[in-house]
Formats: sequence, C-alpha cells, structure tokens
Amino acid sequence: MFPLIKEILSMPGDFRELAVRGWVRTRRDMKNMVFVEINDGSCFNSIQCAFDRQTGRELLEQPGRLGTGASVEITGKLIPSPSQGQAVEIAAETITLIGEAPVEDGGGIRAYPLQKKRHSLEFLREMPQLRGRTNSIAAVMRIRNQLAFGVHRFFQERGYQYLHTPIITGNDAEGAGAMFEVCVPQEAREKTAFFGRRAFLTVSGQLEAEAYALALSRVYTFGPTFRAENSNTARHLAEFWMIEPETAFFCLDDNMALAEDFLKFLCRLVLENSAEDLAFFEERVEPGLTETLRQLVQTDFVHMSYTDAVGELEKVTRFEFKPCWGCDLQSEHEKFLTEEIVKGPVIVTDYPREIKAFYMKQNSDGKTVRAMDVLVPRLGEIIGGSEREENPGALASRMDELGLDREQYSWYLDLRRYGTVPHSGFGLGFERLVQYVTGMVNIRDVIPYPRAAGQLY
Ligand code: 4AD
Ligand code: MG
Repeated sequence: MFPLIKEILSMPGDFRELAVRGWVRTRRDMKNMVFVEINDGSCFNSIQCAFDRQTGRELLEQPGRLGTGASVEITGKLIPSPSQGQAVEIAAETITLIGEAPVEDGGGIRAYPLQKKRHSLEFLREMPQLRGRTNSIAAVMRIRNQLAFGVHRFFQERGYQYLHTPIITGNDAEGAGAMFEVCVPQEAREKTAFFGRRAFLTVSGQLEAEAYALALSRVYTFGPTFRAENSNTARHLAEFWMIEPETAFFCLDDNMALAEDFLKFLCRLVLENSAEDLAFFEERVEPGLTETLRQLVQTDFVHMSYTDAVGELEKVTRFEFKPCWGCDLQSEHEKFLTEEIVKGPVIVTDYPREIKAFYMKQNSDGKTVRAMDVLVPRLGEIIGGSEREENPGALASRMDELGLDREQYSWYLDLRRYGTVPHSGFGLGFERLVQYVTGMVNIRDVIPYPRAAGQLY
C-alpha cells in the first residue's frame, strides 16, 4: 500500500523516494517553481509538493489542468521543508493527472464548486457528495470516526456485548408516535401488507435491547434510528445514530455513573487523539472548546431532581415558555440550567411520569419516574435514560392507563413474567455528541448525509 499523507508527514525528511496520491487543494505558481498542496483526508494537514518548472512541464503549463479538486499522483523525494510550518515536503519529480476538476464551466460540466475561499456551511450542505473535501467537514468526519471507535472500546472493555436490534419494527418504543411507516406501495394498510401488520422504522432499539440484557447481562446497541418529528431545529434529524447500553441489575445511580464515565471517556479520547482537528474547531468554530472538554473530563456531573430544577427555573423570568411542574423542559430551560445555573453538565432525574415513556420505573410518590436526562451547555439534552419498570403488575397497569395494547407488547411483558430483574439503560444521540465535541452549531453538518424535514440529498 502507498502511504497516506498522515504517515508521510510523520516520516523524517531523509530524501526517500515516495509516491503521494490525493486531491489538489491549492496551487501557487512562482517564477521557477510551482507549489501544489495535496490533501487525502487522512489528517488535517496537506503536504506541499514543490516542482521545478522543468519537471512535468507539459502538465504544469496547461492552465487549469491542475486546479483545486483535481486528483493526482506525485512522485519525488521527501526532504526537510525550507518553508515555515511544516517539517517535510516533497521535491517532486513526476506528476500524473488522474482526474481533472475543471476550473471553468464548459463541455456540460460546471467548474469545481469548492474553490479556495471559505464556503458557508449552508452552501456546503447542498453538496454532501463533495463537502467531505473541505477542512471543516473532513475534520468532523475524522472526529466522528474516533468517537465511534471509542464507543465500542468503552463498552467492550466493560463486558458489554454489541447487539444489533431491528430497524424495521412493529413497536413504538417511545410511545410518542413519531414513526415513519414502512410499506409496499398500494398494499399500505391492507391485511395483505408485507408483514401482515403495520411496520415502522425504529425510534429506539431499547425494548429489544432489554430482552437481551435479561439474557447477556450487559448489551449495547449502536445503530440508526428514525424520527418523523417535523422539527426544523439545529439538533434534530429524521435519521440519526444512537448508542443504547442496557444493563441488568443496574439501578438509576449505576446508570448515571455509567453515562458520566462514558462521556468522559469519549471526550478524553478526542483530546488525546484528535488534537489537530480540535485545534481547527477551537480556532474557527468554538473558542474555548478544548477547555470545555477538559473541564468535562475533570469535574463531577451535578445531579438535580426535576422538581429542584423547575424550582430554580421558576425564579427566572426571561423565558418564552414559563417553566411549571409537570411540563416538559423546553430547550431554553435545559440550556439555562446547564449554562447559567450549573455551568457544566447536569443530570436531571425523577421527572413527572406523565411526560415520560411507559417503561420507566415508577417512584413510590405516585407522581414521578426514575428517569435521567444528561444536559450539557450549548445543546441541552444529549442523553436520555431511566431505570425500567421491572414489576409486571406496575408495568401492565401503566400500559393500560396509556391505552397501549397489551397483546402487542405481550413479548415485552414476558421479560417481567419470567425472571425479571432491576435493569437500566440510556440512549446517547451520536450526532449530538459529535456536535458537542466539535462545537458545530447545526446537527446537519456532523453526519455525512443529513436526513431532515425537507432535506434528502
Ligand atoms: O431521549 P430519547 O428519546 O430516549 C430514548 O430513545 C430511549 N429509548 C433511550 C434509552 O433509554 N435506551 O433519545 C435519546 C437521545 C436524546 O437524548 C438525543 O441525544 C438523541 O437521542 N435524539 C436525537 N438526536 C438527533 N435527532 C433527533 N430527532 C433526536 N431525538 C433524540
Ligand atoms: Mg429524551
């Protein structure tokens, strides 16, 4: 295999012969020399290739042929760089144009749309097929990769088994009804439907994960989930990835500790392994980002009951929606709580049962459930979870109250009928995590192909 630019940049400039392949970022023409910066996405930095005008003259002298975006192979010697800011560069000997990227419209092809100037993220969102070649989106995707790898490492090191839960399902796991329906055209709602009943895209793998937690003790899912919420916000997608650990014999306190360890582990991993990309986000996107991540790693998360949180919020007058006990916390409340009151991550627990899902364990006060939401500055909710109702009678009567069909959830009630145990879990929205770690404002910029209301490129 030929080396990646990431590898080449860490080699000594010992005049070794090598080949580099990638895409032209910039080209600077001087009197006797031409400098071409090549990037291959393996790391933030590009490698500078210096051509004597005599070398590869034919190619270098055709204006446009080597413009931004063209793919090339360059061979030459790796030498200590005379220029500032880079240890090595390539004294180029040959250059092969692999694929041209026109600098001007012509022949039915538009000029390469990503020119050297800075493009807005909105502009880039319209071309997900090319935006991965920009500094910002490439850096996001490298950090996303680092985090995904970290998710598996964290759970594998703690005895959790990776579980693939279904994408097509008949269950509304959150009881919120925001599901996409899966159907064969024409057959939609008929008895002849493909599955013999209505089918949907999953909103969460939790219920199925519970079944396997009560078999394998510790499991986690990490897969795509779908929500048909028509919310055009900077933190909602119609298709997003979620990580859901589910642990047998875990109470809410254990669950909170796991969530805190998990977030700290992931932030530490990025601080240690993605320094170059982080430095870019620090400078261009969110000043103070690195310090925020360090703080998160070092400080204990504050715990606060929903009742106390509402008490604190009621003292504040400037909200659009007035907070009140029994109402869901609005995004403005969540942000105020974590940014102004706690000034860091906070875990809010024991929400009113009326605003939470049917499966949450009921507290003895008859009003609240053993729920936990982890809120962080800038984003608000990043994790939602709970201890689960493991008592068969309590779960069945809660389902009756909410009008859920016992027949349909009979398999889920089986988990309480046969060898039930206390158990808990949570869901981390993967894109919200990537937003938190990179400082990116819009969730559509942290997933390769965003799917959201009105957007399906
Ligand atoms: O709070 P939620 O709805 O919890 C569940 O789905 C539980 N079944 C999880 C569990 O206990 N196993 O969603 C969990 C997280 C949220 O905190 C948020 O980070 C993210 O998923 N999330 C979204 N991310 C992007 N776009 C959306 N539309 C999202 N909805 C939820
Ligand atoms: Mg939630």
